[in-house]
Amino acid sequence: MPDLLVNLLKLPAIADTADESVIIRRAQAFELSAVREFVSETFSTVWADEVSVGFANKPVSIYLATIDRGIVGFSAYECTRRGFFGPTGVIDSARGRGIGKALLLSALMGLREMGYVYAVIGGVGPVRFYQKTVGAIVIPDSEPGIYTDLLKR
Ligand SMILES: CC(C)(COP(=O)(O)OP(=O)(O)OC[C@H]1O[C@@H](n2cnc3c(N)ncnc32)[C@H](O)[C@@H]1OP(=O)(O)O)[C@@H](O)C(=O)NCCC(=O)NCCS
Repeated sequence: MPDLLVNLLKLPAIADTADESVIIRRAQAFELSAVREFVSETFSTVWADEVSVGFANKPVSIYLATIDRGIVGFSAYECTRRGFFGPTGVIDSARGRGIGKALLLSALMGLREMGYVYAVIGGVGPVRFYQKTVGAIVIPDSEPGIYTDLLKR
């Protein structure tokens, strides 16, 4: 799974969905347990661990998508390495509504505000999603990246 590079100076302007029932917002420190639980139950403990680091950043470097005050997606940045986007995920039933893109843009704007000009998306699965939404390019010879030699559980 390769790493991707995103030019933060060329991000599309809108970091929101057209759907008014969806709220995209930065997570709050007191939501750490709820977010960890969501991420570990919906995705993986490894991702929940990465997200925990974002809660130690000020401001918290985690964005949430909520519907009726329930979490339907999340995105993270500056967690596992400096200048990195990820992880991110949207629940199955809410995919295809622009939520993943809005979460991605919000987090990338967070990195841009920190002063980065480029962001790295590490160990990517859905390469075409990132190519399409933010013009990401595959970094040559970026495999294996940081997600190697994972502990056995
Ligand atoms: C990747 C993911 C976050 C996308 O979330 P989503 O809410 O469905 O994405 P959006 O609805 O915002 O999609 C935005 C655009 O990207 C496209 N897209 C979404 N997922 C795609 C994929 N896997 N491959 C190619 N295009 C994709 C959509 O069709 C849409 O295109 P449009 O603007 O022309 O309609 C979601 O599928 C997910 O949680 N996947 C599992 C976890 C994962 O792989 N995370 C990434 C780890 S690097």
